[in-house]
Amino acid sequence: ISKEHKQIMEAHELLAKFYHHLLMNTTEGQEALDYLEKRGFSKEDLDAFQIGWSLPNWDFTVKFLQKRGFTLEWMEKAGLIIHKEEDGTYFDRFRGRIMFPLHDEKGKVVAFSGRSLHDEKPKYLNSPETPIFNKSRLLYNFHRARPSIRKQHHAVLFEGFADVIAAASAGVETGIATMGTSLTDAHIQQIRRVADQVIICFDGDSAGIQAAFRASNLLSDSGCEIKVALIPDKMDPDDYIRKYGAEKFRNNVIGTAMTLIAFKMEYYKQGKNLQDEGQKLHYIEEVVAEISKLKKAVERDYYLRQIAEQFSLSLDALKQQEKQLFFKER
Ligand code: CTP
Ligand code: MN
Ligand code: MN
Ligand code: MN
Ligand code: MN
Repeated sequence: ISKEHKQIMEAHELLAKFYHHLLMNTTEGQEALDYLEKRGFSKEDLDAFQIGWSLPNWDFTVKFLQKRGFTLEWMEKAGLIIHKEEDGTYFDRFRGRIMFPLHDEKGKVVAFSGRSLHDEKPKYLNSPETPIFNKSRLLYNFHRARPSIRKQHHAVLFEGFADVIAAASAGVETGIATMGTSLTDAHIQQIRRVADQVIICFDGDSAGIQAAFRASNLLSDSGCEIKVALIPDKMDPDDYIRKYGAEKFRNNVIGTAMTLIAFKMEYYKQGKNLQDEGQKLHYIEEVVAEISKLKKAVERDYYLRQIAEQFSLSLDALKQQEKQLFFKER
């Protein structure tokens, strides 16, 4: 690898350590540390995930890097500092933010995401695309979770960093997350190399449910077995864990994750009044179409019976409709 590449990697490692030190051991980091502890993150969590704090200065990182002989042009390429065209000087990209180091599969820091402490926008500021970082490939916490994922044969996919960290400290060590983008082929391939089952545990708001629907289809198309864990009351997994505790999260959320078809049967109910004849028929059509996609005849039979019973329909009629769809699909 090139000298530039090596320097960029080194700068990330050094800065991650230093940002972490600033958060844990300095008065400058105290307000951020208080905020994180109030949110329920323990010192152990912050150590394990190397969470840090970037000073609210314009040139702290610039000077830090300069003093250690880093080439500033390369550091700009690395997304750590920004070049001011007018006077040729540099300033820090991350200022006054809680720093989440992002690690590659080998556990090397390749980028940062900085969360604002108050309500400054954007809530999360990410490193740009760089020679060592591609947002649409990175899975947060993959390097730490991989041994557990292999052992337990499943991964739990979350929406956010905070959810991954809260889950890990609640005993769910198989958690990973995308960077707020939707799931890409690269993500899926990476997951598929180590897990044959994925439990999707997104935020409980409608955006989260929508994203879970999309992710579950993509993952299941890749041959993955899917379960969906729904968080009640529009909460995030992180909020749920704070409110109800680790055991309830493991048993009542992860432990009762729904099969894909059960999730879809819930999903299609959204925004429909099933007392209304037309909407009810529409719902049944959507669900039967999903059932027809199931590979196992026994499963198709099982869910069709469930629908027949629920809506007092003849099983024969449902089976006929399912068969038509079944042959159309294949
Ligand atoms: N995200 C981002 N840029 C933003 C907002 C979100 O990159 N402006 C990404 C982050 O990776 C974040 C994820 O999308 O973790 C999920 O977003 P959201 O649910 O809004 O954030 P939370 O993880 O719930 O953050 P918090 O609990 O700290 O509010
Ligand atoms: Mn396996
Ligand atoms: Mn969300
Ligand atoms: Mn959250
Ligand atoms: Mn969230």
